[in-house]
This record gives sequence, C-alpha cells and structure tokens, in this order.
Amino acid sequence: MSNPQVALGVHHAPRGISDRIALGFTKVLRFCADTFFAKRYGHRAIVLETVAAVPGMVGATLTHLRCLRRMEDDKGWIRTLMEEAENERMHLMTFIEVAKPTVFERIVILGVQWVFYVCFFLLYLASPKTAHRVVGYFEEEAVISYTHYLADIDAGRSENPPAPAIARHYWKLPADATLRDVVVVIRADEAHHRDVNHGFASELGGGQPGPVSPYPDHAAELRPEA
Ligand SMILES: [Fe+2]
Ligand SMILES: [Fe+2]
Repeated sequence: MSNPQVALGVHHAPRGISDRIALGFTKVLRFCADTFFAKRYGHRAIVLETVAAVPGMVGATLTHLRCLRRMEDDKGWIRTLMEEAENERMHLMTFIEVAKPTVFERIVILGVQWVFYVCFFLLYLASPKTAHRVVGYFEEEAVISYTHYLADIDAGRSENPPAPAIARHYWKLPADATLRDVVVVIRADEAHHRDVNHGFASELGGGQPGPVSPYPDHAAELRPEA
C-alpha cells in the first residue's frame, strides 16, 4: 500500500527573513523533539500531533475574523485549515491506540499547548505568511520523521500491530491493514499539509503556490457508527 505519488523530499528553500525565521524556529523544535524522544516514535507522534492540530484551527479562526472584518471571500482557506486541524486530531486519535503517553508526557502536553497556542496565535496575527511557512517546515519534518518510523518498522525495531479500527475507518483501509499502512497514509497527509501551507505562505508573499501532493481519501464521518 505504498503511495508513489507522494513527493517525500520537498524542501522550500528559504527566501527572505520571514522564511529564515520560520526555518530556524522549526529546526530548534526538531532538535528538542529528537533529544526528548529519540526513537520512541509512538510517543513522539502523540506529543507532536497534539501540537500539529493547533495551527489549522488558529489559522481558520483568524482568517474567519479577518474575512468578517473586511467583508471579503476566504478563497476556501477556512475550511481547508479547519479540515487540517481535524485531520491532525485523527492522527492523534490513531496513535493513542498504539502507545500510551507517560504522566510526564501528559504534563509536557499541557505546558506545550499553552505556550504554543499563544505563540502561534500571536505569530499568525503579526505575519500569517510566516505562520504558514512555519507549518510548511513543520510538515517537512513530519514527513521525514514518519519516513524514519517506517524504516524502523521495516527493520523490525518498531512493532507493526494491526491498524486500529478508527484508522481503518478514517483512511478506508482493508481489514488486514497494519500500523505500517497507517503510517504511510499519515505521511501522505503531512506531505499534503506541507504543500498547502507552503503554498499559502507563497500566496501571501505575492508568489505562486507550487504543486500539492495528493491527499489520501478520508471517511466523511470520523467514527464508524456515526
Ligand atoms: Fe499529523
Ligand atoms: Fe502535520
């Protein structure tokens, strides 16, 4: 169940100070995550997905408010960003079936959410372009991390249990799907978010969005029984 169309090695070369700040910020956070989690990929995914689901909702909220104030069209951005937040939350709901966060990790999640929400909100207010560039760079790192996770599964260093039911439903996977199949589609989600957010940043900077990696098919209802 590979997804050959997904462009894995995409990197937006920074142009200007705003891009450099976004890339620097991302590299600092990457270093922190690598130091904290090393190769505990399940735990890493849980903590980072609690962060990944924040920017879409912040961007949707502030874009919504700006469109109300200016009485102008959103060009579909608000739904795209809300859907991104929902998709990232489904990544979290999937990994919580795979690994259980420690008490310390739960405390880290509480603290990081306060700090990250406030910081990202203020960044988006000050410069939506930089904020979307940050998300584009975050997603570049997410694609790399999930590629490492797949390599670990393939090498037998990480377990490959059956896919959680919630993931099989959401990504429309077959009954015999495994965690590896889920990580492949999650990585494709991240590649799509990467290209969408880099595109938004480029548009806000007066440029043209680049090609967008295909989005995996998702169930319209998040739960099988809904
Ligand atoms: Fe994610
Ligand atoms: Fe993501």
